[in-house]
Amino acid sequence: MTEGSVSWRCPSNIALVKYWGKHGIQLPANPSISFSLSESHTTTMLSWRPKDERTLEFYFEGQEKPEFLPKIETFFKRAESMFPFVKEHSLRIESENSFPHSSGIASSASAMSALAMCLCEWESVIEGKDIDFEKASEAARLGSGSACRSVYGGFALWGETEHLSGSSDRFARSVPEIHVNFTTLQDTILLIDEGVKEVSSTVGHGLMNGHMYASQRFDQARGNIKDILSVLKGGDFNAMAELMEQEALSLHAMMMTSKTPYLLMRPGTLEVISRIMARRKQGSPVSFTLDAGANVHMIYPSSYVDKAMEFISSELVDFCANGAYICDKVGTGPQNMVLQR
Ligand code: DP6
Repeated sequence: MTEGSVSWRCPSNIALVKYWGKHGIQLPANPSISFSLSESHTTTMLSWRPKDERTLEFYFEGQEKPEFLPKIETFFKRAESMFPFVKEHSLRIESENSFPHSSGIASSASAMSALAMCLCEWESVIEGKDIDFEKASEAARLGSGSACRSVYGGFALWGETEHLSGSSDRFARSVPEIHVNFTTLQDTILLIDEGVKEVSSTVGHGLMNGHMYASQRFDQARGNIKDILSVLKGGDFNAMAELMEQEALSLHAMMMTSKTPYLLMRPGTLEVISRIMARRKQGSPVSFTLDAGANVHMIYPSSYVDKAMEFISSELVDFCANGAYICDKVGTGPQNMVLQR
């Protein structure tokens, strides 16, 4: 087929055990686990035509954005041997996010996984076979490490570990045994700071090279993978909360203790996480995690939704920029946005 289009919607994800540090071409220094979100996603349409002078065009929310091309070109270069048919075509990529661009929510995981799913569907159209999700995950990884976990719904693990058979540094796979307490976990993203991050994740990963605590951090994450897999199977919320919070704070400790130290938490971040921890001490099933930014992901079971909303409006919303937060939860994964071809 010389001309056609495909479209996929892929979720953002939030890691419980963090990927922080990499080597080679986007290979992780330690295994990580996340769950895909339901409401925070990117929808991408990939169209191809016989090659002409405009080989690659990128549109974001209806506007042409040439500034994103270098990152996309790097991705295509890395993925070239996986999808050899691409180079015979000119491509047009149109993408949009469900969350506001200024929210500080990382869009690389959802964006790169959506693009990888589009490429795998294009391949499946050519070859007349089903989409290979491991291949989609591997391709997504080449665009952004954490993106490889976004081609699945529910919980996904990326990185080789003896604690999950079939695990690999090259791609993520679904975590098969998840207790029912966790399959409907809620994530309310409290938007503490809506600005663009001062230090990108890519730079942050780089600062783990030669970091004086690097090997201890990677050991800690490996141990936490073992523990979280058994907790996710067993269903103990407090045990999950303690592991997840240690991971979030360790991630930020790595930033604060790197050769070029930096701080992404804001005063509001500390206020909010202190209040969440205090609330759990009083017996409520509520916890937090952070990604590489100031926003706080408040994590709690679906049975706690009403109380969580009261807690946010009475104690937390004042620390959110413009009072903004996003109510999200464990999602079902990529969605094919069927097109007329
Ligand atoms: C803190 O996947 O954004 O969110 O591979 O350089 O694109 P690149 O980095 P990225 O790093 C994500 C880091 C994290 C933790 C995680 O998602 O595991």
